[in-house]
Amino acid sequence: DGFITNKFSWCNENCPYPKAGKKRSTANPDKVKTEKRHDLTEAPKIDRLYNRIRELNTLKQWILEDNIPIITVIGLSGIGKTAIALELVAQIKDNFDRILWRNCTNGLALKTLKTNLIQFLSPSSQTKPPSLTNCLRTHRSLIVLDDFQELFTNGQLAGTYLPESKDYGKFLKQIATTPHNSCLLLLSWEKPLEIATLEGKKNPCRTLQLNSLGESAKDILRERELTDEDRWLELIELYSGNPLWLTIVANTIEELFEGSVAEFLARGSPFLGDLEAILHEHYRRLSELEKLAICWLAKVENAVDISELPADFILSESELLKAVQSLLKRCLIEKVKGQKGRKFVLSPAVKEYVKNL
Ligand SMILES: Nc1ncnc2c1ncn2[C@@H]1O[C@H](COP(=O)(O)OP(=O)(O)OP(=O)(O)O)[C@@H](O)[C@H]1O
Ligand SMILES: [Mg+2]
Repeated sequence: DGFITNKFSWCNENCPYPKAGKKRSTANPDKVKTEKRHDLTEAPKIDRLYNRIRELNTLKQWILEDNIPIITVIGLSGIGKTAIALELVAQIKDNFDRILWRNCTNGLALKTLKTNLIQFLSPSSQTKPPSLTNCLRTHRSLIVLDDFQELFTNGQLAGTYLPESKDYGKFLKQIATTPHNSCLLLLSWEKPLEIATLEGKKNPCRTLQLNSLGESAKDILRERELTDEDRWLELIELYSGNPLWLTIVANTIEELFEGSVAEFLARGSPFLGDLEAILHEHYRRLSELEKLAICWLAKVENAVDISELPADFILSESELLKAVQSLLKRCLIEKVKGQKGRKFVLSPAVKEYVKNL
C-alpha cells in the first residue's frame, strides 16, 4: 500500500547497457547515439519510498509528455527531494540515452560542470568538442543537480547566487530556451531567481514543491513500533509530515517516552532536539528582511493576512511583501486560504525554532 521499492540498478561511470546499443549501432551508424550511459555514482542509495505517487506522476508527465527542459523540486531539508528523484530516475531511466547525477555540495563550478557534461554526454576525440546544447539535442539526457541551494548565498533573498556561481543564471536560461529534448532536474531548498520568471503553464520551467507526506507518514512511525496510533496524525501535523523530522522525533519518543506518542504530545509545543541544527541551517540563510518577517510571524497566534499590518509594524508593506515572497521560495511559510485572499503561517516546528531564538 503505497510502498515502492527502489528498483534501481546502480551503475558506475560508463555503464552503457551494451546489448541494445551495440545491436543498433551496427545496423545504423546514426544510432550510435542510442547507446545508453547512465552515471549515478554521486547519487545516494535510498531503499524505500512511501507514497509520493501523485508527485511522481506529475514529474513523469512534465518530463516525458510535456518535455519541460528544467524542472525544480523544492522543499525543506528532509522532505524527500533526493528520495523522490531517485525513484523517478529508476522509473524513467529507459527513456534517456544519458543520465547524470551531480551534487552541488562544496560548490560546483559551472565551467567544471559544463566540461563534465560535454565529456559525459558526447565523448569525442575531436579537437573541437561539441557545444553543450548540441549534446543535449543529440542525446536525450536527464541531468540531476542535487543540493542546488549550495550555489546560493546566505543573507540575501532566496535564490541569489554566490558570486562564483552567478553564471548559472545564464546557463539555466540557455537550457530553458534553446530547443532540445533533454531535461535538467534541480533539487533545492530554494527556487532559483530566473526559474520564477521562466515558469508557467506554457513556459519552459516548472517547479514542484514537496510538502507533507500526509497520512502515509504513518508508515514511518509504524516502522519504529510507536504506540497510540490514534494520535499519530497529530504528530505528523506537528512535524509537517517531513520524513526526516518524523524519524528524528520517533527516535526521541523511543528513547525518552517508551514509544508513547500520547505522552510525548502531552508536552504541548513541538520538541526540537536534534531538529534544531537542521532548522538553524535554514534560518541562517535568511536575509535581514526575512528574519524580521519570520520573527513577527512566529509571535502571531493564527495565520496572518499581510494586508492587515499593525500600524507600528517595523517593515514597510513592500518590504514585507518582498520578505514573504522570498520565504515562500524557501518553503519556510505556508499559504492558507483566508476569507479574502491568502493568509500566511509558519509550520509548528519552524515557529517553535524562531520563538526560541
Ligand atoms: N516518501 C518517503 N518515504 C519514506 N522515506 C522517505 C520518503 N521521503 C524521504 N524519506 C526518507 O527521509 C530522509 C530524507 O529524505 P531526503 O534525503 O530525500 O530529503 P531531501 O529533501 O533530499 O533533504 P535535503 O534537502 O537535506 O537533501 C531519507 O532518509 C529518506 O529515505
Ligand atoms: Mg537531498
